[in-house]
Amino acid sequence: MIRIYLEEDHAAMSRRAAHIIAAEIHRDPSCVLGLATGSTPIETYKNLIEWNKAGDLSFADVTTVNLDEYKGLAPDHDQSYRYFMNTNLFDHIDIDKDNTFVPNGLAEDADMECAEYDELVESLGFADLQLLGLGHNGHIGFNEPDTCFTKETHVVDLTQSTIDANASFFESAVDVPRQALTMGMGCIMGARRVLLIASGEGKADAIYKAFCGPITPECPASILQLHNDVVVVGDRAALSKLLAEELTEEV
Ligand code: F6R
Repeated sequence: MIRIYLEEDHAAMSRRAAHIIAAEIHRDPSCVLGLATGSTPIETYKNLIEWNKAGDLSFADVTTVNLDEYKGLAPDHDQSYRYFMNTNLFDHIDIDKDNTFVPNGLAEDADMECAEYDELVESLGFADLQLLGLGHNGHIGFNEPDTCFTKETHVVDLTQSTIDANASFFESAVDVPRQALTMGMGCIMGARRVLLIASGEGKADAIYKAFCGPITPECPASILQLHNDVVVVGDRAALSKLLAEELTEEV
């Protein structure tokens, strides 16, 4: 089942998403959260930090598994996803960092690292709640449009559109790593519940294709139509194409 929350703007989207994550932690204080990086979840994380600081939410027993990491970036590189998670969330909450996992971008044997990451996620019983952002090309994690869905955590070549979208975080596009380690669809679909967040008009097309289009690896997020518990939280701009369709249907 897919439930869609329409929120007025990015702030309301972030607040709704944070409430859903907090509710999961209240349900099970030792839950496993699958987490994402990128610009979309930053404000969601800010809300969680605020509630943690206010004493309303504790991460003391929570375990986290992140979706992906750039290949070749050290954990302390300021563009690595480990660094992102530390600075945007983990450094500011009461989580035990030993219980936070991000693929190691510097692993000598990246394929082995991927296999071990799958084993880790499986040994944790998969995520109770997997947070996802959405790429303009419909990617989730770094599962880029392809001819098939990949089940395992794997090394992926980033598409030019992803490199361009992420270039603003680096000094220039040439500095963006060309490869990443990403959870595959097995870990993502294994999560008990998936929470996908999207904001801005730039995501409207991808949202529409993911949830109204055919299930195809050309739009990786479309696989979520096969998951039995998906919550989409989007702002009005991101959901605009979905809304346009619904309004047309009503007429
Ligand atoms: C990040 C990730 C990516 C992003 C997606 C959207 O861990 O897995 O799939 O969620 O690229 O990025 P933003 O939020 O920057 O638009």
